[in-house]
Amino acid sequence: MATASEDAASPPRRATGRVRQTGHESFLTYAGGRWWKISALLAFALIALYIFVPLPRQHFGSSWLGYTLGTIGALLILWLTLLGVRKRAITPGRWSLKAWTSAHVWLGLCLVVVGTLHTGFDLGWNVHTLAWTLMMIVIVSGMVGIALYAAVPQALSANRFDAEGAITEKQMIEALRSLDRQLHEAAQPLDRENAALVESSLAEDPFAGNVWNRLTGRYPRCATRAATVALREGRAFRPRVAGAPLDKVDALLTRKQGMLDRMRRHLKLKSWLQAWLYVHVPVTFALIAALSAHIVSVFFYW
Ligand code: HEM
Repeated sequence: MATASEDAASPPRRATGRVRQTGHESFLTYAGGRWWKISALLAFALIALYIFVPLPRQHFGSSWLGYTLGTIGALLILWLTLLGVRKRAITPGRWSLKAWTSAHVWLGLCLVVVGTLHTGFDLGWNVHTLAWTLMMIVIVSGMVGIALYAAVPQALSANRFDAEGAITEKQMIEALRSLDRQLHEAAQPLDRENAALVESSLAEDPFAGNVWNRLTGRYPRCATRAATVALREGRAFRPRVAGAPLDKVDALLTRKQGMLDRMRRHLKLKSWLQAWLYVHVPVTFALIAALSAHIVSVFFYW
């Protein structure tokens, strides 16, 4: 995550009182868990107010506490949205991106309490509940993002390691290119039928595939897999055709398949790290639209 790398480059303690951060501190526990503590305190205080302040439960949103919760919620949503702008500006120190992300995550979770209490649990088929639902979708997608940031980097590095050590994405691409060159050479002595099978594997773009292929890592129309199967079936029907050139091509296709599987696992994991943002960000904008409609309707038509 960008936040970790920025923090690793943050300056040491200076006369300004800014504190150097270590590159290993997670944004979840940033500054000794400052933001989860603030958020938990705020959530408990608001729940206590909701329980102990005697207010009518009907149209609770338009009571003084309801308005207060609504104002806090709307301002929080606008501030949380600004993370998109903040991510693209570099300013180290107390308001580093890690600090922002920490506050974003914990205050974003606190919004469940703020927004839900603001509704007074009076949900129905209207624009107010639409705004609440969109808010919950954004928050849940954020939680999914956190779970993915916790799990995926480990899976990515496990996929990069094998008996010979670690391999980068660039090296995976180079290994595939090298196997293709070897396959091209090895296919020269083959008959037309088998050479065409190798050709279909060579013509395959290892990056081709739709969103579903990318997210699942499944490529049912993989030309290399089809070529390996067809080559082996052909050999089973015509055992006398078998020989050293075919053995070599078979072995190379198997190695290529292994590298392709590894590359596709790598792309699948990387796509997971991005996929949740395709819910988080567009639904944020839908939320802001619904929130605006909610506020306008409350002030003009209530
Ligand atoms: C209504 C509440 C929320 C809103 C409006 C909101 C909005 C946003 C926006 C606009 C971004 C920037 C995306 C980008 O430009 O790449 C973002 C990023 C993010 N959000 Fe939220 N968010 C909310 C709640 C949450 C919650 C509750 C969590 C976690 C539990 C969360 C976790 C994240 C994370 C991890 C990022 C990415 C940070 C990074 O890549 O450095 N968000 N959010």
